[in-house]
Amino acid sequence: MSGLLPKVELHLHLEGAAPPGFIRGLAAEKKVDIARIFDERGNYAYDDFWHFLKVYEAATEPLKTPEDYHRLTLAVLEESAAAGVIYSETFLSPDFCGGRDLSAWREFLHAIREAADLAERRDGIVLRGIVTPIRHLGPEKAKEVALCAAETAGDWVVGFGLAGDEKSGKPKDFSWAFDAAREAGLRLTAHAGEWGGPESVRDALRDLRVERIGHGVRAIEDLALVDELAERGIVLEVCPGSNIALGLYQDWRSHPIHELRERGVKVTVSTDDPPFFHTTMAREYDRLATAFDWDEGVFDEIAKTSAKAAFCDEKTRENIL
Ligand code: ADE
Ligand code: ZN
Repeated sequence: MSGLLPKVELHLHLEGAAPPGFIRGLAAEKKVDIARIFDERGNYAYDDFWHFLKVYEAATEPLKTPEDYHRLTLAVLEESAAAGVIYSETFLSPDFCGGRDLSAWREFLHAIREAADLAERRDGIVLRGIVTPIRHLGPEKAKEVALCAAETAGDWVVGFGLAGDEKSGKPKDFSWAFDAAREAGLRLTAHAGEWGGPESVRDALRDLRVERIGHGVRAIEDLALVDELAERGIVLEVCPGSNIALGLYQDWRSHPIHELRERGVKVTVSTDDPPFFHTTMAREYDRLATAFDWDEGVFDEIAKTSAKAAFCDEKTRENIL
């Protein structure tokens, strides 16, 4: 079903999309011992979400230079393009690339952009960046990340987000960072309603004034909130395969994406960290088609919703679909 349908992905973590073979190769080159994060088949291995965050962080250890990020970006976009993605927004974390030192961040960003330009010419896929602090590293670090984001905001760095452990702190702790990003012209999204319940989504909307929510699926536990999301046209970056792999829902048919859509919420589909969850955009489409009997018309509507909700400029958007 998914085959060649053009796909727009709004929620993808750059390091989280790193093919495990790529990270293993880089670790060998740099003599970094991270054998513990792989299972016997060479896939990333973790027990639960909090362990996943640790394994994710360990997988970034061999990514040391801008050149490493250049190679990573090329590897990731090759996989995305092969799954039919034509436009992608990726979370970039100065906490992992370049530290929060602005001059190093600029170098890393430059390398990533160069690779994105190459991939656009090679595979026809367009990439834009969303700078994203890591919630469990705390609000002070998020402020420094926001300053990096504000200094590099423009036609390529188009958004600001918040990832990491949703149970760490409250959205309002990050209001300063989000205000700074908004003033710099960045569009806003935050992970919420994944490990936190509906109140976490309400808090992110009220205290961070985001226009999209990363995941947001647990809004389904509060139908008044679902109605509010639908009325306000808040877009959910839903990552069903991620939620199922991390044990949030037992299987595809129990995932709330279908009900959220039926209730009028603007849902989109993304992979989050595809190799960690043994998924691709093509696989997400296939699984959704099977679980909910979604046809090409539904996927076409989802791609259009995603393109409209993309943070890029109008000219780029017009070329998406
Ligand atoms: N970082 C990478 N993947 C994530 C997820 N699913 N939730 C929160 N932070 C993340
Ligand atoms: Zn995510």
